[in-house]
Amino acid sequence: MPRKLAAGNWKMNGLRANVKELATLAQRHSDASVDILICVPTTLITTCQDTLFDIGGQDCHTAESGAHTGDISAQMLSDAGATYVITGHSERRADHGETDQIVAAKSAAAYAAGLTAVICVGETLDERGSGTTLDIIDGQLAGSIPGGATSDNTVIAYEPVWAIGTGKVPTLEQIAEVHAHIRAQLQARFSDGTDMRILYGGSVKGSNAADIFGVPHVDGALVGGASLKADDFSPIISALEKS
Ligand code: 13P
Repeated sequence: MPRKLAAGNWKMNGLRANVKELATLAQRHSDASVDILICVPTTLITTCQDTLFDIGGQDCHTAESGAHTGDISAQMLSDAGATYVITGHSERRADHGETDQIVAAKSAAAYAAGLTAVICVGETLDERGSGTTLDIIDGQLAGSIPGGATSDNTVIAYEPVWAIGTGKVPTLEQIAEVHAHIRAQLQARFSDGTDMRILYGGSVKGSNAADIFGVPHVDGALVGGASLKADDFSPIISALEKS
């Protein structure tokens, strides 16, 4: 069984004053039996360096360095203290036109810098409505995961676009179907695909976490809004520990 992972994605939220939430979380979960990762804005990575938890970035450039004003390389994230980076989040795919090819290049850059990539996939509401969810997921998995992926350097996050920040969550059957499908794809392509962690993301809260974590092949969660406050994230971590 892959080791479970509770991951927070703070997105474009968080000032230095908010880092105290991590100290509160650390008091409650100092002996956690699951891995805990917080993907903070780049500006906070150094500030968070001494936290008990793994710290991640939310994006990186495909190149190690160069004339790319405003961008951050995977090597820079690592240098600042990050050990993970999210790649291919649907907000970046939508807001910045990131293709599967770009996501694969960013993930390869993460590996080269020694970071673990949390590679995101997920269908839109239209795609689900038209019955193409599994085809979309297949295309994203095939295109976004570079060669060299292992269970150590890669985590997959299934985040249905329509469930992000909406309070809408797929049924447990729908989550089970996609996660089992992703597992089969990973096993077919990678020798340690059985051990690659697959997270569910999209409106995870303390109230629905236990049910979601009971679904086969759900190895944790990638949590947005409910990761910002220790009081909201803590019950999700506890539910994962009990699952
Ligand atoms: P919410 O938990 O706010 O729906 O966000 C999910 C997400 O996008 C995590 O990356």
